[in-house]
Amino acid sequence: MMQNVTILLFITVFFSGALGSKAECTYKAVGDTFMIPLNDAEEEIPPDSDLTWTHNGTIVYSKKGSHVKIKTHNINTRGSLILEKLQIIHSGEYKAEGFNGDGTSLKGSSLQLCVRDPVLEPTVTVKCEESGAVLTCGAPNNTETNVVWIKNRNEMLNVTNTVLRVDSSELKHRFSCTVRNEISKKTSNDVQPGCFHTGPTSEKSDEKNNNNNDWSKETYLFGLDLWWTLVIVTGVGIVMLIVFCLLCVCWQKKGRKAREEEEYRLTALVTSDQSDQTTERSERLAKSQRPLPPVPGPRCPPSPPYM
Ligand SMILES: *[C@@H]1O[C@H](CO)[C@@H](O)[C@H](O)[C@H]1NC(C)=O
Ligand SMILES: *[C@@H]1O[C@H](CO)[C@@H](O)[C@H](O)[C@H]1NC(C)=O
Ligand SMILES: *[C@@H]1O[C@H](CO)[C@@H](O)[C@H](O)[C@H]1NC(C)=O
Repeated sequence: MMQNVTILLFITVFFSGALGSKAECTYKAVGDTFMIPLNDAEEEIPPDSDLTWTHNGTIVYSKKGSHVKIKTHNINTRGSLILEKLQIIHSGEYKAEGFNGDGTSLKGSSLQLCVRDPVLEPTVTVKCEESGAVLTCGAPNNTETNVVWIKNRNEMLNVTNTVLRVDSSELKHRFSCTVRNEISKKTSNDVQPGCFHTGPTSEKSDEKNNNNNDWSKETYLFGLDLWWTLVIVTGVGIVMLIVFCLLCVCWQKKGRKAREEEEYRLTALVTSDQSDQTTERSERLAKSQRPLPPVPGPRCPPSPPYM
């Protein structure tokens, strides 16, 4: 009976139905502390008053004057029932009844309490199928949850199942889901289905589906291949270019040096052919002009013959 009421309330809250229900549930999370007010008066109750609190019809607090008979939960000076560290079992109907010392009613209220576990963060699992994928929003141990799917950060308001079917043209989008109950809300991480659609399944079934699969598989694989090929080719190309340039510089230096040396040698030869008088001087000159011993520099490979 109570369960029916709860379900009705759930529907009322989530579908904004105009179902007039007497006992509206007050939702609280497991672990919370909650105080149920005795009435709206918010006044201290006189010490000589009698007061009884019931939960599902069972007395959880009772006093006659200053004599406390049952105290499953505490009350405060205003007669409010204090529920600490709420558990699911604390759900249900709470009623207060009391009288002042002079016999007048304390006008106790009643309240329907619904204690809920906060939802756990859901995860989206992907099951690749022939013509797309099946996404499941997994929220462990959650009942009475409300699922909203999110595609590329936009809520898909027309989908409220825990299972979402996605066709192959949508596999590149990002999906996540939000699970909520009356007291909490959690959203999963984004998932990009990215099914490859390989395997034996693509051989059977009707032609239209197969065409779809081949298309999505080809573009996906081609995109991946092209990307990596580009990266590798570019990398190798750059490295080769750098090596080639270094070699060029080396060879050029070597070639120039060789040419210069030859020139000096030629000059020396020409000067030594002249008269004896000038030989000494020219020899000195040649000596002074002869290049210095080579400075140790970058080691270069032997010059190719065409340089
Ligand atoms: C009281 O009733 C509610 C249903 O309305 C139930 O969920 C809860 O467990 C019950 N609690 C006790 C202590 O009987
Ligand atoms: C989920 O419920 C099972 C029992 O139904 C329990 O063993 C498990 O610890 C629960 N998991 C979480 C995360 O609460
Ligand atoms: C939900 O609506 C969108 C457009 O707003 C549409 O593209 C999509 O197919 C619909 N999904 C379902 C399951 O009806």
